[in-house]
Amino acid sequence: MGVVKEGCYLLFPFVILSLSVPLLPLSVHSQCTKPPIIFNFGDSNSDTGGYVDGLGLNFVPPNGRAYFHHPARRLADGRLMIDFLCESLNTGYLTPYLNSLGPNFTNGANFAIIGSATLPRYVPFSLHVQVSQFLRFRSLSPALVLNGYQDLVADGDFETALYTIDIGQNDLAASFDSLSYPQVIDKIPSFITEIKYAISNIYQRGGKNFWIHNTGPLGCLPQKLASFARNAIELDEHGCLRPLNNAAKIFNTQLRVLCEQLNSQLINATIVYVDIYSIKYDLIANASHHGFDSPLMACCGNGGPPYNYNANITCGRTGYTVCHEGSKFISWDGVHYTEAANAVFASKILSTNYSTPRVNFNFFCNKM
Ligand SMILES: *[C@@H]1O[C@H](CO)[C@@H](O)[C@H](O)[C@H]1NC(C)=O
Ligand SMILES: *[C@@H]1O[C@H](CO)[C@@H](O)[C@H](O)[C@H]1NC(C)=O
Ligand SMILES: *[C@@H]1O[C@H](CO)[C@@H](O)[C@H](O)[C@H]1NC(C)=O
Ligand SMILES: *[C@@H]1O[C@H](CO)[C@@H](O)[C@H](O)[C@H]1NC(C)=O
Ligand SMILES: *[C@@H]1O[C@H](CO)[C@@H](O)[C@H](O)[C@H]1NC(C)=O
Repeated sequence: MGVVKEGCYLLFPFVILSLSVPLLPLSVHSQCTKPPIIFNFGDSNSDTGGYVDGLGLNFVPPNGRAYFHHPARRLADGRLMIDFLCESLNTGYLTPYLNSLGPNFTNGANFAIIGSATLPRYVPFSLHVQVSQFLRFRSLSPALVLNGYQDLVADGDFETALYTIDIGQNDLAASFDSLSYPQVIDKIPSFITEIKYAISNIYQRGGKNFWIHNTGPLGCLPQKLASFARNAIELDEHGCLRPLNNAAKIFNTQLRVLCEQLNSQLINATIVYVDIYSIKYDLIANASHHGFDSPLMACCGNGGPPYNYNANITCGRTGYTVCHEGSKFISWDGVHYTEAANAVFASKILSTNYSTPRVNFNFFCNKM
């Protein structure tokens, strides 16, 4: 339980629409000659295959149609933000830690798993479990390298590695399923504490470079709108659910304070807080300016306008429909974003306009 929070993606036959989506250029391509090794922690926003590897299932088309031309173990029609960030450093896509078939961890490992949250702490694959997996990787990998194993990470490389975290969305989503708004707000500090433990644990084992994404506008997800939007009073000027977005903003304020505190407490550490909320909300608010239509409607789903989301007929299940031009949609399946949106998000991240302190992702390239 817990793990499949974001919807069941089962195996059904369907029609595949193969379309070429024009790729948005990323504004920054780094001169990173020796990119940092990256260890990533999080949920479906950055899971590049761990859930599929761990559970031995697969996603179905049309997932992946815009880029990989097969589902590629991601919940999107193509690449995720983390994929674009890796491209910007000229490093490969991250291999899931749970990949047991010829994994290549030379450039790092991805511990993110679809559905993950910070709490409860001891269930697969909470942030705490992901960090425990990392600590195991960290203690075993250097000795294996010395013994001649390839494609792992050597001892000194954990100090120069970049640790990226993108989690919290499922904590808020699950809380709203069972709690009142004030109760949700009361729980937020416990989520932030888990992120604090994660950063502190990694730091104690030598990690110094952290890149922390805040959480996006939960109340703009078609899935949430389809199930909660019953009266107009709760909707903001762009049609998103105010209580869910307010909770996300309160989470983000506390996360920002944590990052500032840790930046001064943890000697020699750099903790970059990235305002993903503003990046995502701005795109939804200004969708047409960026060439997107229907910012609150899923490309792949069922039911048509306004949200094209039906919890019984999610993307890939019998009866779903899929839009022709994914590049015009921000939401892929009602919960996850399209590759086109992810490309915009990544280019905004790389602009440094949303980072505190204001450093670029390639700041962590190893100085040779
Ligand atoms: C693993 O990836 C690195 C670069 O990311 C590459 O140089 C190496 O050849 C890869 N190993 C295998 C076995 O493919
Ligand atoms: C911080 O970095 C300096 C310079 O590299 C080093 O001398 C010092 O030991 C480091 N301190 C800690 C606590 O890591
Ligand atoms: C939309 O874009 C305008 C102009 O670039 C900007 O001033 C405004 O802040 C944006 N709206 C949101 C909600 O970000
Ligand atoms: C989904 O299925 C359940 C059980 O069959 C039903 O009660 C519910 O109304 C359905 N929801 C939608 C949006 O069709
Ligand atoms: C970043 O900020 C600068 C200065 O405000 C602006 O010119 C630029 O368009 C911004 N870039 C992005 C991607 O938002």
